[in-house]
Amino acid sequence: MSQDAMKKAAAEAALAYVQPGMIVGIGTGSTANHFIDLLAGIKHKVEATVASSIASAQRLESHGIRVLDLNEAGELSLYVDGADESDENLNLIKGGGGALTREKIVAGASAKFVCIADDTKLVKVMGKFPLPIEVIPMAEALVAREMIKLGGKPVLRAGFTTDNGNIILDIHGLEITDPVALENRINQIPGVVTNGLFAIRPADVLILGGPNGVRTLV
Ligand code: A5P
Repeated sequence: MSQDAMKKAAAEAALAYVQPGMIVGIGTGSTANHFIDLLAGIKHKVEATVASSIASAQRLESHGIRVLDLNEAGELSLYVDGADESDENLNLIKGGGGALTREKIVAGASAKFVCIADDTKLVKVMGKFPLPIEVIPMAEALVAREMIKLGGKPVLRAGFTTDNGNIILDIHGLEITDPVALENRINQIPGVVTNGLFAIRPADVLILGGPNGVRTLV
């Protein structure tokens, strides 16, 4: 089974969390795209959605699914999104697609976060996947220096601008043994908008697609 088929299987399993009349928060990336395409098949069941990126909003709208601004929607029942890495406690690294800030906002506004991924994303210790940090452009060098002090190797994501008009630094070489502490620490650096650790607010459910089917961690 291909990695993409495993992502699709996880997305399909997440449909079970969609209840009639919900406003559903929608993530970004190839796994979230599978979820959006599958949601189209039950679109009359949901009241509306809130998207974590311009790309996801456009994909939802192309299926005729209503997309609300988060400020109109209020508190969401459910957020469904992919991840770049997860540990067994459902702490995540996200932001490979660069949408980490809006993803963290929509996740933070949601009662339940269901993360969908292929099972290659589950790791013992996070950090092999470079940790994305969204940074206000004038703070690039400052944040890079601070991340070197924390043991990382920052690399500017060349030619990329976030939906919020900022840059991304991808931090290589971290071994993330205390994700809550590191998430808090990085967010204290002036110029950091947010970082791709989802540990202060981890996923509530992790659905993993693998070669032998889907399994769920809670
Ligand atoms: C987008 O910014 C990311 O957080 C994605 O959720 C993450 O990169 C997973 O992407 P895939 O579903 O494409 O693997």
